[in-house]
Amino acid sequence: MAQAGPIIAAEGISKSFGTVEVLRGVSLPVAAKDVVCVVGPSGSGKTTLLRCLALLETPSGGRIVMNGTTIASAKPDAGEKRAARAVRPEIGMVFQHFNLWPHMSVLENIIEAPLRVKGMARAQAIAAADTLLAKVGLSDKRDVYPTRLSGGQQQRVAIARALAMSPKVMLFDEPTSALDPELRREVLIVMRQLAAEGMTMLVVTHEMGFARNVGTRLIFMDHGEIIEAGEPKAFFAAPQTERAQRFLLQLDDGTEGVKQ
Ligand SMILES: Nc1ncnc2c1ncn2[C@@H]1O[C@H](COP(=O)(O)OP(=O)(O)OP(=O)(O)O)[C@@H](O)[C@H]1O
Ligand SMILES: [Mg+2]
Repeated sequence: MAQAGPIIAAEGISKSFGTVEVLRGVSLPVAAKDVVCVVGPSGSGKTTLLRCLALLETPSGGRIVMNGTTIASAKPDAGEKRAARAVRPEIGMVFQHFNLWPHMSVLENIIEAPLRVKGMARAQAIAAADTLLAKVGLSDKRDVYPTRLSGGQQQRVAIARALAMSPKVMLFDEPTSALDPELRREVLIVMRQLAAEGMTMLVVTHEMGFARNVGTRLIFMDHGEIIEAGEPKAFFAAPQTERAQRFLLQLDDGTEGVKQ
């Protein structure tokens, strides 16, 4: 399979809900080890784009391509549906609201999909989960239930849970937006570490510090379109469009995020 091309790509994706056109021909290739950060005003279509890439939403036009194979389009044929089923476990998704299963311990949350979807042996799944818990700094929370964890801890479990499927790409939708400032940092540190390890990531975020310092590419969306795409530091230093300039001016002081 072609490895030189993008790992995953949106190609001319449009999406309408009823008569409302939410995405208008969005093309976004994500190459191996890219950390693509997507910013833009509320309602600009960021979550919808992410959900199309994660196969949670069917595009109205265009296609999603993973490693050269079409995995989603408006009218998927049988081969495409088969391809989608095959690659779905390789697309990790982390949501704003962690969506952990409340009736399961941290460990059970992490091993559930490897056991059920991959058919992994329990001992192997547990060993992998323990490694991931150490990675996100939560080995001591292994046997507790999600309600006993802080929001930042829950989000780190959600990241470990997504990683347990050995994804080829991780999609994050505002992973820190529901967290208090002091808890955001611990999640951003885990994400920065993932990026440093070479994980391919697409991150919808209001964390401008993360986008500037960890992102390899910056995408600014407005009204369902990509308005600017480029090098993050260049974008923040000198946005090219009036819409992007206005967006940056309107940001709260609280959205600075990590500085390093
Ligand atoms: N399931 C749906 N049904 C109808 N309209 C929807 C649906 N999902 C999203 N929309 C609409 O699509 C537009 C884009 O929504 P989306 O959630 O993608 O924006 P966003 O950029 O993620 O915004 P935010 O920054 O607030 O999260 C909005 O106008 C929203 O109301
Ligand atoms: Mg959103």
